[in-house]
Amino acid sequence: MTPPNAPAATARPTTALLSVRDLAKTFPGRRRLGRPAAPVRAVDGVGFDLEAGRTLGLVGESGCGKSTTGRMLVRLLEPTAGTIAFDGQDITHTPQRRLRPTRRHLQMIFQDPYSSLNPRQTVARIIAEPLLVQGGSARDARVKAAELLDLVGLGHEHLDRHPHEFSGGQAQRIGIARALATGPRLIVADEPVSALDVSVQAQIVNLLERLQDELGLALLFIAHDLSVVRRICDRVAVMYLGRIVEIGTKREVYETPAHPYTRALLSAVPLPDPVAERRRERILLLGDPPSPASPPSGCAFHPRCAKAQDVCRTRRPVLEAVGSPTRQAACHFPDSP
Ligand SMILES: Nc1ncnc2c1ncn2[C@@H]1O[C@H](COP(=O)(O)OP(=O)(O)OP(=O)(O)O)[C@@H](O)[C@H]1O
Ligand code: SF4
Ligand SMILES: [Mg+2]
Repeated sequence: MTPPNAPAATARPTTALLSVRDLAKTFPGRRRLGRPAAPVRAVDGVGFDLEAGRTLGLVGESGCGKSTTGRMLVRLLEPTAGTIAFDGQDITHTPQRRLRPTRRHLQMIFQDPYSSLNPRQTVARIIAEPLLVQGGSARDARVKAAELLDLVGLGHEHLDRHPHEFSGGQAQRIGIARALATGPRLIVADEPVSALDVSVQAQIVNLLERLQDELGLALLFIAHDLSVVRRICDRVAVMYLGRIVEIGTKREVYETPAHPYTRALLSAVPLPDPVAERRRERILLLGDPPSPASPPSGCAFHPRCAKAQDVCRTRRPVLEAVGSPTRQAACHFPDSP
């Protein structure tokens, strides 16, 4: 296992609702032509804190380990190493049966609302399911499902319909209602608007923002789209090849990005002002991200980094404060604000 890159500042005791340290997940590589393949280090030492009622955005290119991280946090995937503490309790390897009282506080919203909703079940049943698993009565669960449908703006008159009768945005509202059923304190939303029409995306982001505010939820919002994250998040973590390369407040990361990878991602986000859009500098990312089965030596970003020097090829940078105690970047030559 490679050294973790959890931020040094997070080694101190924390009052965060969710506290993640050195989290890692390695998948066995797929055998090719009878030869064993190298293991895939999908997540390789991730660490952060998330306070109650706050939103952390997790961004990065496809395959960098966002979903694997999110699924470990809600214990849908078993971590290979590291720790997950929820409300001060280590839940990293708690057996599923003992985890049940905590599980109601950890919920997930998925990218594709249709594939995450059972097509044979009514909306009432889909939303009630987590309550029934927790031991609630069928009658109470139906009443709660009706309340939740109203809360997510769909209306309780839809209780007895099936998922295929709804548009993508409506189906995602059902997914959100289901996630809220057990009164969670933390929701991991894995690209919750990526599969939706652009016109609907804003409505769902507005809904999540309102619910988060009203219910005091902590939200880990996973996305490709940096403009969506900017809207909803307090803090942002940028992942590259299984590790966090920059983390900070929204303002720090968007206005004065320290890591060359963050700068490249941001330079690809279209600006609303056409004049500014024409003038701004574009930083091209060369090639595709490397495979997590054979990460480059030193800084994993070096083959694509215009600032790379010799040291970048041999020494892996760790997350260190850049410019303020709230922002950290893993780069030997970060841009200082
Ligand atoms: N069950 C698995 N077995 C083997 N490799 C896996 C498995 N699940 C994920 N991976 C690999 O782990 C890496 C991280 O995958 P993950 O789905 O977490 O990325 P992601 O950042 O969510 O990508 P995307 O933006 O495309 O959703 C990828 O290289 C992926 O191929
Ligand atoms: S450590 Fe070097 S290669 Fe890596 S991002 Fe910084 S400058 Fe680029
Ligand atoms: Mg994903």
